[in-house]
Amino acid sequence: PTVLILNGPNLNMLGVRQPEIYGRDTLADIEQACADEAEQLELEVDFRQSNHEGELVTWIQEARTAHDGIVVNAGAYSHTSVAILDALQAAELPVIEVHLSNIFRREPFRHHSYVSQAATGVVCGLGVHGYLLALQAMARLLETDR
Ligand code: DQA
Repeated sequence: PTVLILNGPNLNMLGVRQPEIYGRDTLADIEQACADEAEQLELEVDFRQSNHEGELVTWIQEARTAHDGIVVNAGAYSHTSVAILDALQAAELPVIEVHLSNIFRREPFRHHSYVSQAATGVVCGLGVHGYLLALQAMARLLETDR
């Protein structure tokens, strides 16, 4: 099975962006950690990042036929984007939402995520490890799917 790992706006800035909140790992480090975990889990991963809402929507649309599941950290679009929610619902694939930070410990505007409405599960506050936990959960979901 193949899993799309989608990263939204500003996640390309990881490593330099507010390290006290997001840690020192770069997006390339996260990609490598996901690749290693995926190998263990016998999953294929397609790891992507975009700062553009429409590009994320297009990728989710394509995932409907190209991928078996979606792990998504939509960044700030989690809190604003009905378009990403609609795309995830239309994809009819298992979705796991990830946030590096604990969004519930932060500003109130981060407490609501549109993405959560389309997600089977949500992992937040565990940093890079959250992506690996999401992949583990996805591997389980896809196993019982088959
Ligand atoms: C984030 C949390 C969001 O509130 C924020 O806008 C991000 C990153 C996280 O991974 O903790 O860009 O999704």
